Parts: sequence; structure tokens; C-alpha cells
Amino acid sequence: MKRRVAILISGRGSNMVALIEAAKAENFPAEIVVVISNRADAAGLAKASASGIPTIVIESKPFGKDRAGFEARLQRALDEKNVELICLGGFMRLFTAEFVQRWYGRMLNIHPSLLPCFPGLDPHGQALKAGVKISGATVHFVIPETDAGPIVVQGAVVVADDDTPETLAARVIQIEHQIYPEALRLLAAGRLTLEGDVCKTAGNAASDGTLISPRQVSATSASVKEIPPG
Ligand code: GAR
Repeated sequence: MKRRVAILISGRGSNMVALIEAAKAENFPAEIVVVISNRADAAGLAKASASGIPTIVIESKPFGKDRAGFEARLQRALDEKNVELICLGGFMRLFTAEFVQRWYGRMLNIHPSLLPCFPGLDPHGQALKAGVKISGATVHFVIPETDAGPIVVQGAVVVADDDTPETLAARVIQIEHQIYPEALRLLAAGRLTLEGDVCKTAGNAASDGTLISPRQVSATSASVKEIPPG
């Protein structure tokens, strides 16, 4: 039996599309049964409808600071669809600790940085300011703290010296579209185990994959000062 999944969005919904596409495969262990947006103007809603996925809009604005009120309405919609797992895809609304606790271990989020680095707003700007040479994206279980929680899958890209937040975001989003379906596949197939703050994956073998950035620095470049080993 496929696990029943709701995707929650607030905007463009490109990760939502990646999840919907992946779930079309016959052997994918989850099905997307509903897309819920907290904004009526979310562009992702039309994309979900075009894929034949039912959509629901629950505007969060009228609830103001009444998070529990919004969540009660959301929970009703999830119950009506017998939702078992939730994927947040650019869902820009914070949850109460109670809602997060209720869905702990069953709710995933994606964030465009290698968490725990650069949570919150403008992660690509934060990464460039920090001068990291490798960045990426993270799918994690949701906990009350924003953009934190047991890490399920990460994917990395190298950062170029001339990257802007926009060029970096354009490469990272490609990674996001690969790792989110993979994370949902692992969760829905029952291959994830939570050990405290750490998520373990059944059948996860050590790999020798290595990413070094910058990979080649010209030894003849005048601006490069070689550091002798040892
Ligand atoms: C994605 O880059 C996602 O990682 C990010 O919002 C974007 C939504 O794009 N989420 C966060 O920053 C969460 N803190 P999408 O609507 O095209 O999937």
C-alpha cells in the first residue's frame, strides 16, 4: 500500500512538481493525495491541478497570530484525506510545537543549504557571505526549531567565486529536485530510523564519493601562495 502524502506549499511549487513526478512511478512507495496552500495566489496550485492532484487553499492570513486555529483547520483537511505523511515545499508558515509533535517523524522539509549551516532567510546570501566552497540542500524531519531536525538526505554543489545568490540558487534547486523525492521514497518505504537527533537509513553503505572545491588551483598563479605540507 502506498503511503498517502500531502504537500504543503506557499509559492512556486517546483519541489512539489518534482515530488508529483516521482510519485507517478508505479514502484514509488507514496502517492500525493492533496496539495494544500496557505496562499490563494501560490503559483504551484495551478501546476498541481494540471497534474490532476486535488488542491485545497487554507488562507493563513485571516488567522493572524492564531496558529492553533489555522492548524486545526489544516488538520481537518489532512484527516479528511487520510494523510499519513507531509512534505513541506517552500511552505512559509511556522507551526506550533503541538502540531510539529503530532507529526514528528512523519513531516519532511527541504531547505537550500547544507544544514545546520544557514537556516532561515537568504541561505544563498548567507553561504556566499561566509565564503563556503561547497553548499547544497537538505531534506530533514521537522522539529519546532526552523530549518532544523534530523537530516534525511543532503546534496552538494560547488560554489564559484563569481556566484551570486541567484546563480547559486539555480544550481541548488536542481539538487533539491533530486533529493526530495529520494527522501520521501526512503521515508515511505520505512527505511528511516530516528535515533535521537540522528536519522539512520537502512541499507546505507559507506561510499567513497568526495567533493573538493576548489578542485584545481594553478600552482603558477602569482596570487596563490603555496603552503608546504607538514
Ligand atoms: C526551495 O528552494 C526550498 O528549499 C525553500 O523554498 C524554495 C521553494 O521553492 N525552502 C526554504 O527556504 C525553507 N526554509 P519551490 O516552491 O519552487 O519548491
